[in-house]
Amino acid sequence: MDHLVSPSLLAADFGNLHKEISMVNNSQADWIHLDIMDGLFVPNISFGFPVIEYVRKTAKKPLDVHLMIVDPDRYLSRFRDAGAGILTVQYEACIHLHRTVSEIRDLGMKAGVALNPHTPVSLLKNILPFIDMVLIMTVNPGFGGQSFIMESYNKIAELRNMIDAGGFKVLIEVDGGIDTSNASRLVGAGVNVLVAGHSVFSSPDPADTIRRLKTPG
Ligand code: DX5
Ligand code: ZN
Repeated sequence: MDHLVSPSLLAADFGNLHKEISMVNNSQADWIHLDIMDGLFVPNISFGFPVIEYVRKTAKKPLDVHLMIVDPDRYLSRFRDAGAGILTVQYEACIHLHRTVSEIRDLGMKAGVALNPHTPVSLLKNILPFIDMVLIMTVNPGFGGQSFIMESYNKIAELRNMIDAGGFKVLIEVDGGIDTSNASRLVGAGVNVLVAGHSVFSSPDPADTIRRLKTPG
C-alpha cells in the first residue's frame, strides 16, 4: 500500500486553527494527528476534548489521536465521542494492554500502541494479533521539533519482520523528527504512516511539504 501522511497539529498555529485545518483538508494528507499530553506521562500538557471536537467538525480527514497520558482506560469512550478514528495508547502507560486495545476496537476505533524509544519492539509479540497499528516514537514524547533518533531504523526493521512473518495487518507509524530528508528511507524500511509536525507547519508552504512527504525521494 502507499504510505500515509498524518500532519501533527501540535505544531500548528492555534490562533488560526481553522486556516491550518483547511490547509490540511486541501492537501494530500491522509489523517490528522492529535497529541494528547497530561503533564504526567510526559512533562508537557497539550489540549483536550473541546479542541478535538472542534477539529472533528472542521476536518475532512480521519483523526489519528495519540494519547500520552497515564491510565488511558478512563477516557477511551470520550475520545471516541470526541471524534477519534484511530486511538493510540502508550505501551508504557497500560498495565492491561490487551483489555485496553480490545475496548478501543469494541468502541469502533482502530487501536494503536506506541513505544517510547527505550521500549523494545519484541514486547509486542503477543499483542500484534489484536491491534491495527504500532507507533514507533522516534523522539522522546512530549515536545515537537526534536531530532530524530537514528536507532529507530533498527526497531522499524525488526518490527517489519515480526509483522510480515506473522502475517499481521498492522500498520507501522513513526512520530518525531520526520521531514523530507528522512521520509524516503523510512518508507523504504516499511513504514506505513509518517507523522510530521514541525517540518510541515513551520515550512513556508505546508501543503507542498505534505506533498513531498507523500512522494519522497
Ligand atoms: C511528540 C508528539 C509528536 C510531535 C511530533 O511527543 O508525539 O506527534 O508533534 O513533532 P515533530 O514532527 O515536530 O517532531
Ligand atoms: Zn504524536
